[in-house]
Amino acid sequence: MSRTRTKQETRGLTGGMDSFLRSMTLLREDVPNLSKYPFSIPALRDFETLDFHPQVTFFVGENGSGKSTLVEGIAVAAGFNAEGGSRNFNFATRRSESSLHKHLRLARGTRRPRTGYFLRAESFFNVATETENNETALAAFGNVSPHEMSHGEAFLTLVRERFSGNGLYVLDEPEAALSPQRQLSLLRSIHDLTRDACQFIISTHSPLLLAYPDARIYHLSEKGITEVAYEDTEHYALTRDFLLNREKYLRRLFED
Ligand SMILES: Nc1ncnc2c1ncn2[C@@H]1O[C@H](COP(=O)(O)OP(=O)(O)OP(=O)(O)O)[C@@H](O)[C@H]1O
Ligand SMILES: [Mg+2]
Repeated sequence: MSRTRTKQETRGLTGGMDSFLRSMTLLREDVPNLSKYPFSIPALRDFETLDFHPQVTFFVGENGSGKSTLVEGIAVAAGFNAEGGSRNFNFATRRSESSLHKHLRLARGTRRPRTGYFLRAESFFNVATETENNETALAAFGNVSPHEMSHGEAFLTLVRERFSGNGLYVLDEPEAALSPQRQLSLLRSIHDLTRDACQFIISTHSPLLLAYPDARIYHLSEKGITEVAYEDTEHYALTRDFLLNREKYLRRLFED
């Protein structure tokens, strides 16, 4: 279900300020082979242009629907290292990125981000290792090796120490490390940072994070990429239904 956009969103403005990334367009005519990864993923083959919300854009979808591939493509097209980190953080423990970034055209606003970070839950460990050899990167963790913190502690330290105003943040499943309570802390941080002119692009499975009100949610599926209202996401509907009817769900799930 799509919802009505405010004039302000349509112009890609936030509080009178322009988005860093206004939209992305898939340059389909340049794709050599639409049946090969990443274009073999239905959601990544069919869209033309998608508008980003000036504050938070979420991507949701089943496991394997293409969220990480898409978010990585956006991050690399925006100038981040494919494996994660800041824009001047350059290393590779494996060559992992797909060719999607080469076929995505990002429409940028008139402002340039002052800072930013690409976080992939899947390679946070590699970023942490690399950080130990990099003084500036270590400062982002409060000068304590992230290997000496729990996964969630390291992630929240990074957000508190490193994320700041006028930044572009691309996060792939940031909830992976976080307890429900800490996901609420992350929501609060996102709120403070968007008030400080930041923009977020986030893939997630978390019904808590998805509740962020100043956001647009895109759903990746066999049918392509469609905008969806919070209450119409499976994350909200299934979690709510399960918690309200737990006994019934479990009986049905476990029956022979
Ligand atoms: N390097 C690769 N080569 C070929 N296929 C790949 C490659 N990386 C991912 N895929 C395939 O692309 C599809 C989408 O993967 P992707 O990691 O983007 O999904 P996702 O939506 O992030 O899933 P999850 O929710 O489990 O994180 C999957 O079917 C996967 O097997
Ligand atoms: Mg993923």
